Amino acid sequence: MSFDLVFFGGTGDLTWRKLMPALFQAFRHGKLPGAEQGEARILAVARDDQSDEQYRAWLHEKLRSVDASKRPSEEEFERFARLIFYRRMDLSQPEHYLRLKDWLAHRDGGRPADTVVMYLATSPHLFPVICEQLGAAGLNDERVRVVLEKPLGHDLKSAQEINRVVRSVFAENQALRIDHYLGKPSVQNLSALRFGNALFEPLWRRESIANIQITLAESLGVGTRGDFYDRTGALRDMVQNHALQLLTMIAMEPPSSHDADAIRDEKLKVLRSLKPFTPESVARDVVRGQYRAGTVGGQPVPGYLEEAKVPPGSRCETFVALRTEVQNWRWAGVPFYLRTGKRLAARDAQIVVNFRPVPHCIFPGMHTANKLVIKLQPEDGLELHLLAAKGSGQHEHLAPVSLDLDFDRAFPTERVGAYERLLLDAIAGRLNLFVRSDEQEQAWRWVEPILDTWARDNAGPRTYAAGSWGPAAASALVARDGNAWSEEQ
Ligand code: BG6
Repeated sequence: MSFDLVFFGGTGDLTWRKLMPALFQAFRHGKLPGAEQGEARILAVARDDQSDEQYRAWLHEKLRSVDASKRPSEEEFERFARLIFYRRMDLSQPEHYLRLKDWLAHRDGGRPADTVVMYLATSPHLFPVICEQLGAAGLNDERVRVVLEKPLGHDLKSAQEINRVVRSVFAENQALRIDHYLGKPSVQNLSALRFGNALFEPLWRRESIANIQITLAESLGVGTRGDFYDRTGALRDMVQNHALQLLTMIAMEPPSSHDADAIRDEKLKVLRSLKPFTPESVARDVVRGQYRAGTVGGQPVPGYLEEAKVPPGSRCETFVALRTEVQNWRWAGVPFYLRTGKRLAARDAQIVVNFRPVPHCIFPGMHTANKLVIKLQPEDGLELHLLAAKGSGQHEHLAPVSLDLDFDRAFPTERVGAYERLLLDAIAGRLNLFVRSDEQEQAWRWVEPILDTWARDNAGPRTYAAGSWGPAAASALVARDGNAWSEEQ
Protein backbone atom coordinates (compact mmCIF):
# COMPACT_ATOMS: atom_id res chain seq x y z
CA MET A 1 0.00 0.00 0.00
CA SER A 2 1.28 3.47 -0.82
CA PHE A 3 0.36 6.68 0.98
CA ASP A 4 1.02 10.39 1.15
CA LEU A 5 0.56 12.10 4.48
CA VAL A 6 0.32 15.90 4.47
CA PHE A 7 0.79 17.87 7.68
CA PHE A 8 -0.84 21.29 7.53
CA GLY A 9 0.89 23.24 10.30
CA GLY A 10 4.14 21.47 9.43
CA THR A 11 6.32 23.74 11.58
CA GLY A 12 3.92 23.85 14.54
CA ASP A 13 4.49 22.42 17.99
CA LEU A 14 2.07 19.54 17.56
CA THR A 15 3.88 18.39 14.42
CA TRP A 16 7.36 18.21 15.86
CA ARG A 17 6.45 17.35 19.44
CA LYS A 18 3.89 14.61 18.82
CA LEU A 19 3.23 13.72 15.20
CA MET A 20 6.72 13.39 13.73
CA PRO A 21 8.06 11.46 16.77
CA ALA A 22 5.03 9.15 16.52
CA LEU A 23 5.60 8.60 12.80
CA PHE A 24 9.25 8.01 13.44
CA GLN A 25 8.33 5.34 16.01
CA ALA A 26 6.05 3.68 13.46
CA PHE A 27 8.90 3.82 10.96
CA ARG A 28 11.37 2.38 13.49
CA HIS A 29 8.92 -0.43 14.31
CA GLY A 30 8.60 -1.23 10.61
CA LYS A 31 4.88 -0.39 10.69
CA LEU A 32 4.73 2.48 8.20
CA PRO A 33 3.25 0.79 5.15
CA GLY A 34 5.45 1.01 2.09
CA ALA A 35 8.22 2.95 3.84
CA GLU A 36 10.95 0.51 2.86
CA GLN A 37 9.69 0.29 -0.73
CA GLY A 38 9.69 4.07 -1.30
CA GLU A 39 5.87 4.06 -1.28
CA ALA A 40 5.42 6.38 1.71
CA ARG A 41 5.81 10.15 1.63
CA ILE A 42 5.32 12.71 4.38
CA LEU A 43 4.82 16.31 3.32
CA ALA A 44 4.96 19.18 5.80
CA VAL A 45 3.36 22.44 4.63
CA ALA A 46 3.58 25.81 6.34
CA ARG A 47 4.08 29.50 5.59
CA ASP A 48 7.88 29.67 5.69
CA ASP A 49 9.93 29.47 2.59
CA GLN A 50 12.37 26.60 2.89
CA SER A 51 13.68 23.63 0.98
CA ASP A 52 13.19 19.96 1.83
CA GLU A 53 16.76 19.91 3.12
CA GLN A 54 16.26 22.93 5.36
CA TYR A 55 13.07 21.47 6.80
CA ARG A 56 14.75 18.12 7.46
CA ALA A 57 17.62 19.89 9.25
CA TRP A 58 15.13 21.90 11.33
CA LEU A 59 13.19 18.76 12.22
CA HIS A 60 16.37 16.88 13.05
CA GLU A 61 17.27 19.61 15.52
CA LYS A 62 13.79 19.63 17.05
CA LEU A 63 13.75 15.87 17.49
CA ARG A 64 16.88 16.12 19.63
CA SER A 65 14.68 17.57 22.38
CA VAL A 66 12.01 14.85 22.42
CA ASP A 67 11.90 11.99 24.90
CA ALA A 68 15.08 9.90 24.55
CA SER A 69 13.12 6.74 23.72
CA LYS A 70 11.60 8.50 20.71
CA ARG A 71 14.77 10.23 19.49
CA PRO A 72 16.24 8.90 16.25
CA SER A 73 19.91 8.05 15.98
CA GLU A 74 21.81 9.83 13.17
CA GLU A 75 21.51 6.78 10.98
CA GLU A 76 17.80 6.33 11.70
CA PHE A 77 17.06 9.98 11.01
CA GLU A 78 18.88 9.82 7.72
CA ARG A 79 16.65 6.95 6.57
CA PHE A 80 13.47 8.52 8.00
CA ALA A 81 14.28 11.90 6.42
CA ARG A 82 14.13 10.37 2.95
CA LEU A 83 10.35 10.13 3.39
CA ILE A 84 10.00 13.79 4.39
CA PHE A 85 9.34 16.75 2.12
CA TYR A 86 8.38 20.37 2.61
CA ARG A 87 6.35 22.89 0.59
CA ARG A 88 5.42 26.46 1.41
CA MET A 89 1.69 27.12 1.31
CA ASP A 90 -0.50 30.11 1.91
CA LEU A 91 -3.66 28.37 3.03
CA SER A 92 -5.95 31.00 1.58
CA GLN A 93 -4.48 30.77 -1.95
CA PRO A 94 -6.35 28.42 -4.32
CA GLU A 95 -3.32 28.04 -6.60
CA HIS A 96 -1.25 26.72 -3.71
CA TYR A 97 -3.71 23.83 -3.41
CA LEU A 98 -3.31 23.18 -7.12
CA ARG A 99 0.44 22.99 -6.55
CA LEU A 100 -0.20 20.54 -3.76
CA LYS A 101 -2.37 18.52 -6.10
CA ASP A 102 0.43 18.50 -8.60
CA TRP A 103 2.93 17.37 -5.98
CA LEU A 104 0.59 14.55 -4.94
CA ALA A 105 0.13 13.45 -8.54
CA HIS A 106 3.87 13.13 -9.15
CA ARG A 107 5.46 10.18 -7.47
CA ASP A 108 8.35 7.97 -8.42
CA GLY A 109 6.85 5.23 -10.51
CA GLY A 110 4.11 7.53 -11.77
CA ARG A 111 1.15 6.04 -9.90
CA PRO A 112 -0.65 8.31 -7.36
CA ALA A 113 -0.74 7.03 -3.77
CA ASP A 114 -3.50 4.61 -2.73
CA THR A 115 -4.25 6.83 0.25
CA VAL A 116 -3.78 10.51 0.99
CA VAL A 117 -4.14 11.70 4.56
CA MET A 118 -4.49 15.44 5.13
CA TYR A 119 -3.67 16.08 8.77
CA LEU A 120 -4.90 19.49 9.94
CA ALA A 121 -2.51 20.32 12.77
CA THR A 122 -3.29 24.02 12.48
CA SER A 123 -5.37 26.38 14.52
CA PRO A 124 -8.99 25.18 14.17
CA HIS A 125 -10.17 28.50 12.72
CA LEU A 126 -8.34 27.42 9.54
CA PHE A 127 -10.16 24.08 9.22
CA PRO A 128 -13.09 25.43 7.18
CA VAL A 129 -10.88 27.30 4.71
CA ILE A 130 -8.51 24.35 4.28
CA CYS A 131 -11.41 21.94 3.69
CA GLU A 132 -13.13 24.27 1.25
CA GLN A 133 -9.93 24.80 -0.70
CA LEU A 134 -9.15 21.09 -0.76
CA GLY A 135 -12.63 20.53 -2.16
CA ALA A 136 -12.27 23.29 -4.74
CA ALA A 137 -8.97 21.78 -5.90
CA GLY A 138 -10.59 18.35 -6.22
CA LEU A 139 -8.49 16.96 -3.39
CA ASN A 140 -11.43 15.18 -1.78
CA ASP A 141 -11.84 11.98 -3.80
CA GLU A 142 -12.32 8.70 -1.95
CA ARG A 143 -8.55 8.16 -1.57
CA VAL A 144 -8.37 11.24 0.65
CA ARG A 145 -8.99 11.37 4.41
CA VAL A 146 -8.82 14.44 6.53
CA VAL A 147 -7.72 14.30 10.17
CA LEU A 148 -8.99 17.09 12.41
CA GLU A 149 -7.15 17.88 15.62
CA LYS A 150 -8.95 19.20 18.66
CA PRO A 151 -10.22 21.68 19.73
CA LEU A 152 -13.00 21.28 17.21
CA GLY A 153 -14.85 24.47 17.82
CA HIS A 154 -15.39 26.54 20.89
CA ASP A 155 -18.99 25.63 21.53
CA LEU A 156 -21.81 23.70 19.86
CA LYS A 157 -22.47 26.36 17.24
CA SER A 158 -18.86 26.67 16.09
CA ALA A 159 -18.42 22.87 16.09
CA GLN A 160 -21.54 22.51 13.96
CA GLU A 161 -20.25 25.12 11.57
CA ILE A 162 -16.92 23.30 11.17
CA ASN A 163 -18.76 20.02 10.67
CA ARG A 164 -21.07 21.61 8.09
CA VAL A 165 -18.12 22.75 6.00
CA VAL A 166 -16.24 19.47 6.43
CA ARG A 167 -19.36 17.53 5.38
CA SER A 168 -19.86 19.69 2.33
CA VAL A 169 -16.45 18.50 1.09
CA PHE A 170 -15.85 15.07 2.65
CA ALA A 171 -18.07 12.08 3.44
CA GLU A 172 -18.35 11.32 7.18
CA ASN A 173 -16.06 8.29 6.84
CA GLN A 174 -13.36 10.50 5.28
CA ALA A 175 -13.32 12.91 8.25
CA LEU A 176 -11.33 11.61 11.23
CA ARG A 177 -11.74 13.62 14.42
CA ILE A 178 -8.85 12.77 16.64
CA ASP A 179 -8.98 12.39 20.40
CA HIS A 180 -5.57 11.09 21.36
CA TYR A 181 -6.89 9.60 24.60
CA LEU A 182 -8.72 6.99 22.51
CA GLY A 183 -5.34 5.91 21.15
CA LYS A 184 -3.87 5.25 24.59
CA PRO A 185 -3.12 1.55 25.13
CA SER A 186 -5.22 1.32 28.30
CA VAL A 187 -8.29 2.45 26.42
CA GLN A 188 -7.79 -0.42 23.97
CA ASN A 189 -7.47 -2.66 26.94
CA LEU A 190 -10.65 -1.37 28.47
CA SER A 191 -12.50 -2.55 25.39
CA ALA A 192 -10.70 -5.91 25.48
CA LEU A 193 -11.39 -6.25 29.18
CA ARG A 194 -15.10 -5.55 28.87
CA PHE A 195 -15.93 -7.27 25.61
CA GLY A 196 -13.29 -9.99 25.38
CA ASN A 197 -13.85 -11.53 28.81
CA ALA A 198 -16.97 -13.04 30.33
CA LEU A 199 -15.84 -12.18 33.84
CA PHE A 200 -16.64 -8.49 34.11
CA GLU A 201 -19.79 -7.99 32.07
CA PRO A 202 -22.24 -9.42 34.66
CA LEU A 203 -20.76 -7.04 37.24
CA TRP A 204 -20.61 -4.02 34.95
CA ARG A 205 -23.83 -2.41 36.15
CA ARG A 206 -25.56 -0.55 38.93
CA GLU A 207 -26.21 -3.68 40.99
CA SER A 208 -22.46 -4.20 41.53
CA ILE A 209 -20.81 -0.85 40.92
CA ALA A 210 -21.01 1.90 43.53
CA ASN A 211 -19.36 4.71 41.57
CA ILE A 212 -16.86 5.44 38.83
CA GLN A 213 -14.12 8.04 38.97
CA ILE A 214 -12.19 9.40 36.02
CA THR A 215 -9.13 11.46 36.94
CA LEU A 216 -6.95 13.19 34.35
CA ALA A 217 -4.45 15.02 36.51
CA GLU A 218 -1.43 16.89 35.21
CA SER A 219 1.43 18.25 37.27
CA LEU A 220 2.50 20.68 34.55
CA GLY A 221 1.05 24.18 34.28
CA VAL A 222 -0.02 25.91 31.09
CA GLY A 223 3.60 26.51 30.08
CA THR A 224 3.94 28.72 27.02
CA ARG A 225 0.32 28.15 25.93
CA GLY A 226 -1.15 30.80 28.26
CA ASP A 227 -3.02 32.68 25.51
CA PHE A 228 -4.53 29.56 23.92
CA TYR A 229 -5.36 28.07 27.30
CA ASP A 230 -7.00 31.22 28.57
CA ARG A 231 -9.45 31.15 25.66
CA THR A 232 -10.13 27.47 26.30
CA GLY A 233 -10.08 26.38 29.95
CA ALA A 234 -10.12 22.87 31.39
CA LEU A 235 -13.75 22.12 30.52
CA ARG A 236 -13.19 22.63 26.80
CA ASP A 237 -9.61 21.38 26.80
CA MET A 238 -10.09 18.08 28.64
CA VAL A 239 -13.68 17.37 29.71
CA GLN A 240 -15.66 17.94 26.50
CA ASN A 241 -13.39 15.50 24.68
CA HIS A 242 -10.94 13.26 26.58
CA ALA A 243 -12.88 12.73 29.82
CA LEU A 244 -16.23 12.22 28.07
CA GLN A 245 -14.72 9.81 25.56
CA LEU A 246 -13.33 7.72 28.42
CA LEU A 247 -16.73 7.82 30.09
CA THR A 248 -18.39 6.49 26.93
CA MET A 249 -15.88 3.64 26.73
CA ILE A 250 -16.68 2.67 30.33
CA ALA A 251 -20.45 3.05 30.13
CA MET A 252 -21.35 1.92 26.60
CA GLU A 253 -23.42 -1.19 25.92
CA PRO A 254 -21.59 -4.04 24.18
CA PRO A 255 -21.59 -3.14 20.47
CA SER A 256 -22.87 -5.70 17.99
CA SER A 257 -19.50 -5.84 16.21
CA HIS A 258 -16.08 -4.25 16.15
CA ASP A 259 -17.16 -1.95 13.30
CA ALA A 260 -16.49 1.73 13.76
CA ASP A 261 -20.14 2.70 13.52
CA ALA A 262 -21.36 -0.10 15.78
CA ILE A 263 -19.01 1.25 18.46
CA ARG A 264 -19.73 4.90 17.81
CA ASP A 265 -23.50 4.33 17.87
CA GLU A 266 -23.18 2.91 21.40
CA LYS A 267 -20.92 5.75 22.54
CA LEU A 268 -23.39 8.27 21.20
CA LYS A 269 -26.19 6.62 23.21
CA VAL A 270 -24.16 7.13 26.38
CA LEU A 271 -23.61 10.81 25.60
CA ARG A 272 -27.34 11.19 24.99
CA SER A 273 -28.09 9.49 28.32
CA LEU A 274 -25.94 11.82 30.41
CA LYS A 275 -27.99 13.75 32.91
CA PRO A 276 -28.42 17.26 31.51
CA PHE A 277 -27.12 20.14 33.61
CA THR A 278 -29.30 23.00 34.84
CA PRO A 279 -28.00 26.20 36.50
CA GLU A 280 -28.90 24.63 39.89
CA SER A 281 -27.10 21.37 39.22
CA VAL A 282 -24.05 23.22 37.86
CA ALA A 283 -23.85 25.14 41.13
CA ARG A 284 -24.17 21.90 43.09
CA ASP A 285 -22.36 19.30 40.98
CA VAL A 286 -19.55 21.17 39.20
CA VAL A 287 -16.47 22.66 40.83
CA ARG A 288 -14.09 24.88 38.90
CA GLY A 289 -10.71 25.98 40.15
CA GLN A 290 -7.63 27.97 39.22
CA TYR A 291 -4.16 27.28 40.59
CA ARG A 292 -2.20 29.64 42.74
CA ALA A 293 1.54 29.49 43.37
CA GLY A 294 2.66 26.35 45.16
CA THR A 295 5.15 23.51 45.10
CA VAL A 296 5.17 20.67 42.61
CA GLY A 297 7.71 17.87 42.97
CA GLY A 298 9.62 19.94 45.52
CA GLN A 299 9.94 22.93 43.15
CA PRO A 300 8.18 26.26 43.72
CA VAL A 301 5.93 27.13 40.76
CA PRO A 302 3.98 30.27 39.88
CA GLY A 303 0.22 30.61 39.97
CA TYR A 304 -1.88 30.66 36.80
CA LEU A 305 -2.22 34.44 36.85
CA GLU A 306 1.57 34.79 36.85
CA GLU A 307 2.03 32.53 33.81
CA ALA A 308 3.20 34.07 30.52
CA LYS A 309 0.47 35.42 28.22
CA VAL A 310 -2.33 34.99 30.80
CA PRO A 311 -4.39 38.20 31.01
CA PRO A 312 -4.52 39.85 34.45
CA GLY A 313 -7.54 38.89 36.51
CA SER A 314 -8.37 35.93 34.24
CA ARG A 315 -11.23 33.73 35.45
CA CYS A 316 -10.23 30.81 33.28
CA GLU A 317 -10.58 27.44 35.03
CA THR A 318 -7.54 25.18 35.21
CA PHE A 319 -9.44 22.54 37.18
CA VAL A 320 -12.87 20.95 36.90
CA ALA A 321 -14.51 18.26 39.00
CA LEU A 322 -18.07 17.19 38.36
CA ARG A 323 -20.64 14.58 39.21
CA THR A 324 -22.96 13.16 36.62
CA GLU A 325 -25.12 10.13 35.96
CA VAL A 326 -25.86 7.99 32.93
CA GLN A 327 -29.63 7.77 32.84
CA ASN A 328 -30.38 4.27 31.60
CA TRP A 329 -31.20 0.86 33.06
CA ARG A 330 -27.60 -0.21 33.43
CA TRP A 331 -26.36 2.85 35.29
CA ALA A 332 -29.33 4.65 36.91
CA GLY A 333 -28.23 6.26 40.17
CA VAL A 334 -24.49 5.41 39.85
CA PRO A 335 -22.38 8.56 40.28
CA PHE A 336 -19.74 9.19 37.63
CA TYR A 337 -17.15 11.63 38.95
CA LEU A 338 -14.88 13.38 36.45
CA ARG A 339 -11.88 15.43 37.49
CA THR A 340 -9.08 17.11 35.58
CA GLY A 341 -6.62 19.88 36.28
CA LYS A 342 -3.25 21.45 35.69
CA ARG A 343 -0.58 21.74 38.39
CA LEU A 344 -2.05 18.99 40.52
CA ALA A 345 -0.06 16.82 42.91
CA ALA A 346 0.94 14.27 40.27
CA ARG A 347 0.62 13.34 36.64
CA ASP A 348 -1.92 10.66 37.04
CA ALA A 349 -4.62 9.56 34.64
CA GLN A 350 -6.80 6.71 35.76
CA ILE A 351 -10.30 5.33 35.86
CA VAL A 352 -11.39 3.79 39.13
CA VAL A 353 -14.39 1.47 39.21
CA ASN A 354 -15.50 1.14 42.83
CA PHE A 355 -17.58 -1.94 43.42
CA ARG A 356 -20.24 -2.20 46.09
CA PRO A 357 -19.18 -3.69 49.42
CA VAL A 358 -20.05 -7.31 50.17
CA PRO A 359 -23.67 -7.53 51.42
CA HIS A 360 -22.65 -8.97 54.80
CA CYS A 361 -19.13 -8.67 56.12
CA ILE A 362 -17.90 -11.42 58.44
CA PHE A 363 -14.50 -9.76 58.98
CA PRO A 364 -15.02 -7.08 61.60
CA GLY A 365 -13.34 -3.79 60.87
CA MET A 366 -12.38 -4.75 57.34
CA HIS A 367 -13.48 -2.64 54.41
CA THR A 368 -14.38 -5.25 51.84
CA ALA A 369 -15.12 -3.47 48.62
CA ASN A 370 -13.25 -4.30 45.44
CA LYS A 371 -12.02 -1.79 42.98
CA LEU A 372 -10.66 -1.96 39.49
CA VAL A 373 -8.14 0.68 38.51
CA ILE A 374 -7.46 1.27 34.84
CA LYS A 375 -4.23 3.23 34.74
CA LEU A 376 -3.55 5.40 31.72
CA GLN A 377 -0.62 7.43 33.00
CA PRO A 378 2.21 7.63 33.97
CA GLU A 379 2.36 3.87 33.35
CA ASP A 380 -0.47 1.92 31.83
CA GLY A 381 -1.96 -1.15 33.40
CA LEU A 382 -4.78 -2.68 35.37
CA GLU A 383 -5.09 -3.25 39.09
CA LEU A 384 -7.81 -5.28 40.70
CA HIS A 385 -7.96 -4.60 44.42
CA LEU A 386 -9.04 -7.60 46.45
CA LEU A 387 -9.07 -8.59 50.06
CA ALA A 388 -6.96 -11.65 50.75
CA ALA A 389 -5.79 -13.73 53.67
CA LYS A 390 -2.32 -12.96 54.80
CA GLY A 391 -0.62 -15.88 56.51
CA SER A 392 -2.94 -17.96 58.70
CA GLY A 393 -6.28 -16.75 57.33
CA GLN A 394 -7.47 -15.33 60.66
CA HIS A 395 -9.43 -12.15 60.09
CA GLU A 396 -6.76 -10.03 61.70
CA HIS A 397 -4.46 -11.30 58.99
CA LEU A 398 -6.62 -10.15 56.09
CA ALA A 399 -5.11 -7.48 53.92
CA PRO A 400 -5.92 -5.67 50.72
CA VAL A 401 -3.84 -6.90 47.78
CA SER A 402 -3.96 -6.00 44.16
CA LEU A 403 -3.69 -8.10 41.05
CA ASP A 404 -1.41 -5.90 39.09
CA LEU A 405 -1.14 -6.22 35.33
CA ASP A 406 1.69 -4.16 33.97
CA PHE A 407 1.14 -4.14 30.22
CA ASP A 408 4.52 -2.60 29.49
CA ARG A 409 6.10 -5.64 31.09
CA ALA A 410 3.63 -8.18 29.72
CA PHE A 411 3.90 -7.04 26.10
CA PRO A 412 7.18 -5.10 25.99
CA THR A 413 7.58 -5.10 22.22
CA GLU A 414 3.95 -4.56 21.30
CA ARG A 415 3.29 -1.24 22.99
CA VAL A 416 2.34 1.54 20.61
CA GLY A 417 1.92 5.19 21.65
CA ALA A 418 -1.39 7.00 21.18
CA TYR A 419 -0.41 9.17 18.21
CA GLU A 420 1.48 6.34 16.54
CA ARG A 421 -1.57 4.14 16.81
CA LEU A 422 -3.94 6.83 15.54
CA LEU A 423 -1.71 7.86 12.64
CA LEU A 424 -1.41 4.23 11.51
CA ASP A 425 -5.20 3.86 11.83
CA ALA A 426 -5.73 7.04 9.78
CA ILE A 427 -3.44 5.71 7.05
CA ALA A 428 -5.16 2.32 7.08
CA GLY A 429 -8.67 3.84 7.23
CA ARG A 430 -9.62 2.20 10.54
CA LEU A 431 -12.15 4.56 12.07
CA ASN A 432 -12.95 2.86 15.40
CA LEU A 433 -10.86 5.24 17.45
CA PHE A 434 -11.99 8.46 15.79
CA VAL A 435 -14.88 10.56 16.99
CA ARG A 436 -17.93 10.91 14.77
CA SER A 437 -19.43 14.36 14.32
CA ASP A 438 -22.67 13.48 16.14
CA GLU A 439 -20.72 12.29 19.20
CA GLN A 440 -18.68 15.43 19.22
CA GLU A 441 -21.72 17.69 18.88
CA GLN A 442 -23.57 15.81 21.61
CA ALA A 443 -20.59 16.30 23.94
CA TRP A 444 -20.76 20.05 23.27
CA ARG A 445 -24.51 20.05 23.88
CA TRP A 446 -23.90 18.49 27.28
CA VAL A 447 -21.15 20.88 28.44
CA GLU A 448 -22.83 24.06 27.20
CA PRO A 449 -25.10 24.64 30.22
CA ILE A 450 -21.96 24.57 32.37
CA LEU A 451 -20.27 27.20 30.20
CA ASP A 452 -23.44 29.33 30.17
CA THR A 453 -23.89 29.12 33.93
CA TRP A 454 -20.26 30.04 34.56
CA ALA A 455 -20.51 32.99 32.19
CA ARG A 456 -23.33 34.41 34.34
CA ASP A 457 -21.73 33.58 37.68
CA ASN A 458 -19.80 36.36 39.38
CA ALA A 459 -17.96 34.13 41.80
CA GLY A 460 -15.42 32.77 39.29
CA PRO A 461 -13.24 29.75 39.93
CA ARG A 462 -12.15 28.65 43.39
CA THR A 463 -8.45 28.71 44.03
CA TYR A 464 -6.15 25.80 44.81
CA ALA A 465 -2.48 25.61 45.59
CA ALA A 466 -0.30 24.20 42.83
CA GLY A 467 0.76 20.73 43.95
CA SER A 468 -2.56 19.93 45.68
CA TRP A 469 -5.49 17.84 44.40
CA GLY A 470 -7.61 20.90 43.59
CA PRO A 471 -10.06 23.00 45.60
CA ALA A 472 -11.47 21.48 48.80
CA ALA A 473 -14.92 21.72 47.21
CA ALA A 474 -13.94 18.87 44.86
CA SER A 475 -13.55 16.53 47.85
CA ALA A 476 -16.81 17.82 49.31
CA LEU A 477 -18.59 17.06 46.03
CA VAL A 478 -17.74 13.38 46.36
CA ALA A 479 -18.05 13.25 50.16
CA ARG A 480 -21.68 14.38 49.86
CA ASP A 481 -22.47 10.92 48.44
CA GLY A 482 -20.39 9.26 51.16
CA ASN A 483 -17.52 8.68 48.72
CA ALA A 484 -13.91 9.82 48.43
CA TRP A 485 -11.47 10.34 45.56
CA SER A 486 -9.11 7.42 45.18
CA GLU A 487 -6.10 9.14 46.78
CA GLU A 488 -8.25 9.88 49.86
CA GLN A 489 -9.55 6.31 50.21
C1 BG6 B 1 -4.33 17.96 25.25
C2 BG6 B 1 -4.61 19.24 25.99
O1 BG6 B 1 -5.44 17.60 24.47
O2 BG6 B 1 -4.05 16.93 26.18
C3 BG6 B 1 -3.44 19.60 26.89
O3 BG6 B 1 -4.85 20.30 25.07
C4 BG6 B 1 -3.09 18.44 27.79
O4 BG6 B 1 -3.74 20.77 27.67
C5 BG6 B 1 -2.92 17.17 26.98
O5 BG6 B 1 -1.89 18.76 28.46
C6 BG6 B 1 -2.75 15.98 27.90
O6 BG6 B 1 -2.41 14.86 27.14
P1 BG6 B 1 -1.54 13.70 27.76
O7 BG6 B 1 -1.56 12.63 26.74
O8 BG6 B 1 -0.18 14.27 28.01
O9 BG6 B 1 -2.22 13.34 29.04
